[in-house]
Amino acid sequence: MGGSVEAVTVGAENGFSKKRALSPVAAEELPEEIPFDSLKTVLPALVGEAKEDVVVEQTKNFVLGKNVHGTCLEITEPGLDDEETGDRDAYMAGILSRYRKTLVEKTKYHLGYPYNLDFDYGALSQLQHFSINNLGDPFIESNYGVHSRQFEVGVLDWFARLWEIEKEDYWGYITNCGTEGNLHGILVGREVFPDGILYASKDSHYSVFKAARMYRMESVKIDTLLSGEIDCADFERKLSERKDKPAILNVNIGTTVKGAVDDLDLVLKTLEKVGYTEDRFYIHVDGALFGLMMPFVKKAPKVTFKKAIGSVSVSGHKFVGCPMPCGIQITRMRHINCLSQNVEYLASRDATIMGSRNGHAPLFLWYTLNRKGYRGFQKEVQRCLRNAHYLKERLREANIGVLLNELSSTVVFERPLDEAFILKWQLACQGKIAHAIVMPSVTVEKLDDFVEELIAVRKRAFPDGNVVVPCIVEEVGPENCACSVHRDTVSSPKDE
Ligand SMILES: Cc1ncc(COP(=O)(O)O)c(C=O)c1O
Repeated sequence: MGGSVEAVTVGAENGFSKKRALSPVAAEELPEEIPFDSLKTVLPALVGEAKEDVVVEQTKNFVLGKNVHGTCLEITEPGLDDEETGDRDAYMAGILSRYRKTLVEKTKYHLGYPYNLDFDYGALSQLQHFSINNLGDPFIESNYGVHSRQFEVGVLDWFARLWEIEKEDYWGYITNCGTEGNLHGILVGREVFPDGILYASKDSHYSVFKAARMYRMESVKIDTLLSGEIDCADFERKLSERKDKPAILNVNIGTTVKGAVDDLDLVLKTLEKVGYTEDRFYIHVDGALFGLMMPFVKKAPKVTFKKAIGSVSVSGHKFVGCPMPCGIQITRMRHINCLSQNVEYLASRDATIMGSRNGHAPLFLWYTLNRKGYRGFQKEVQRCLRNAHYLKERLREANIGVLLNELSSTVVFERPLDEAFILKWQLACQGKIAHAIVMPSVTVEKLDDFVEELIAVRKRAFPDGNVVVPCIVEEVGPENCACSVHRDTVSSPKDE
């Protein structure tokens, strides 16, 4: 099947990825974006090959040690007279301007990853040329003065209020991403319970099991329900078999692929049922995706430090819409002492995963939280959930298998057969399914365009006009699968 290496090699044959050394006269053509249509011919699209009982899977095989450099923009040494002629500046300006156009174009078709691309941070452009670095503890003034700690703490206080923990009872920081929040939360758990076992559902983000590998922790994968939510019956079984060791648990507020929300209350009940008291478990809540959405959904289980949780993390570039990767991590003050050490050279305390930290991210977060406030986020959450339901209904009408969890804006559906379409809309795929995540930057018009195009490419994949709907019952359940065997169990929008 067309792996990434293969695709790029074929691209080279088509002349898209020739090496571009900068000539002194800078006249060489810049690389074009790979047109989607050409990809259709280079990646076997399974067109016409699909049979109902055939597993349609396109797993890319990434070959380690075979890095592809074909599309890189090579850096070359300036020529002797470049400064006088201005050729190099003109060349670079040309590249940046084309790159900008690419970004504008790619932004139009972004649907598979949970990034809110809707922002106007013009007011912050005046700060771009400062090297703002928040290294150290956000609550301790270090010797480095070009920082934005005052904004960082303002943002942390906002989240502490959202998740119901008093200022004097929490500690936190602005991370580089949701992954760092998970690495930190699980590390705190491990420091509190050095011999603890990490439990996490198999649908947890890969960073959770990466943490277990990094910290050399014993970890246990828990099964999930069809929705993607943790299966507490399996959790109870596996926990009971290891009762002699403390438990460190990762709870998902929005799983990566299906957007499922683990039932925190049921997890807590399960721990209690197996005989775990609060002094024998630590819960890290991975709210990377929906950590900011759930508090604004009426029926959603509440994420709050009033429950026996140890830490919560959320990505700042997802629902919040920060234009650079970042995240928020909050834990209990009493836990953080296990982790932190004084660092004389910083004149601060070290309790973070990274050293230097992006000081611009807190400014963007502070700015957007101030502008939108609780009410603004509530409105956006409601609109996203409404639009996600709209997408689900449109897909169902088109007889496409689709799953949408109740508290989620992640719409899971049959993996499109056309790889070029997947690339164009930047869909995240896993096995036989793909998903679209309805973020505030996704409008109904965009969803309409997407559905129309999906219907058209699906038809084109079957030249005889008879669309064969793949069976995705194992991924989404019989009531959501639209294949000929399960079609009759799909509830129509009107039935709901
Ligand atoms: C559930 C979950 N946790 C953690 C992460 C990691 O977040 P980030 O990409 O900000 O590192 C993701 C990313 O999509 C996620 O879906």
